[in-house]
Amino acid sequence: MSRRAFRAALAHMLDDPSRTPAAEALAHHPDGLLVVEDGHVAAFGAFDELAPTLPADIPLTHLPGCLITPGFVDAHVHYPQVDVIAAWGTQLLDWLETHTFPAEQAFADRAHADAVAQVFLDQLLASGTTSALAFCTVHKVSAEALFEAALSRNMRLIAGKVLMDRHAPAGLTDTVETGRADTEALIRAWHGRGRLGYAVTPRFAVTSSDAQLAMAGEVAAAHPDVLVHTHLLENTQEIARVAELFPAARDYLDVYDRFGLVGPRSVFAHCVHASDEVFGRLANAGAAVAFCPSSNLMLGSGLFPLRRACACGVTTALGSDVGGGASFSLLQMMGEAYKVGQLQGDNLDPLHAFYLATLAGARALHIDDRVGNLAPGKEADFVVIDLAATPLLARRAARARSLAETLFMLSILADDRAIARTYLMGELSHARPGA
Ligand code: GUN
Ligand code: ZN
Repeated sequence: MSRRAFRAALAHMLDDPSRTPAAEALAHHPDGLLVVEDGHVAAFGAFDELAPTLPADIPLTHLPGCLITPGFVDAHVHYPQVDVIAAWGTQLLDWLETHTFPAEQAFADRAHADAVAQVFLDQLLASGTTSALAFCTVHKVSAEALFEAALSRNMRLIAGKVLMDRHAPAGLTDTVETGRADTEALIRAWHGRGRLGYAVTPRFAVTSSDAQLAMAGEVAAAHPDVLVHTHLLENTQEIARVAELFPAARDYLDVYDRFGLVGPRSVFAHCVHASDEVFGRLANAGAAVAFCPSSNLMLGSGLFPLRRACACGVTTALGSDVGGGASFSLLQMMGEAYKVGQLQGDNLDPLHAFYLATLAGARALHIDDRVGNLAPGKEADFVVIDLAATPLLARRAARARSLAETLFMLSILADDRAIARTYLMGELSHARPGA
């Protein structure tokens, strides 16, 4: 049995603070102790209370000036888009044609996919993200490369080969039958292996035929514990295109619904232009939404109505949506989400933002029995945030009077420089140079 302990400030969310009183939703110990046993959390509490219960010889890492939080959960990201991050001057449909589709074609090559998968996981871990729901490309080898890389790092990651059989360059399309065969083979090979999971991943309604969406629904129904992951209601031109392509559908969500793709294990990225009625249908289905504020701003998609989504009862989490999004940092996504709220007269509470970046993501991905907070028994995926990582952070952190204020100033001022260390199942998987 391996046991280790970490002394620092500790904070995690036990529930949604917009629905549960903060005293129950948050656990915070300014001087805390996290005990890890065989990769799982054995104890999370106040140092003074827990220290006397520890064996004298337990390895203890003291991290003064640091805050330990659960690893962040990125509910929507594209690993093949690392190299199109920060593209200038386009909105969604032009951006796909101009930047994204050319970059994704290179993933037919396994060596390229392997190399980018490593860069991608390095970036996630450096940003404090320990779990993600990721798009690959249409190529089966792209998914194999990412799964293999995540398995070797023991990372809890869910991903899928993209399904797209039309309205894309020839090098980026599959067919109904190859899409089915590749998806089935990938589920058999990777779903449930190590900490990996599979998501059936039709790109969006524009790039899949009726027959392919029907196939995706059949595969999802045959494997009820895999996720469904796609895009919905992101951009006005995209929405108009979907209406043209599916004239018989009642609306965009109905396109997916008709093919059995809207259920409790579905995650829809964006939903910027969802009405209350659509949010209500998503909530009734138990589906989740990934709010991707950086991407929505970069691609000019619009302002996600977080308050409305929450009022309608939809499970909502945060996604970086790299490369549409311009950062891997979920701390920065919390800050971008706040700014999007400001433009709509809504002050996003820092604890709610912290919940969105951790436990809500785990709930959306149905991995909250394993990760999302540091409750005893969960897998010990956590980050050590250095509150003095930069001179400005140090000054501001010293003046913060509450955890909410600390989290807020981190969401506005911090980035990967503040992530001193990232641990996966209690093992160090990233250390900032010098930390
Ligand atoms: N809709 C379809 N494909 C994509 C993509 O790669 N990124 C984003 N942001 N939206 C999409
Ligand atoms: Zn996306």
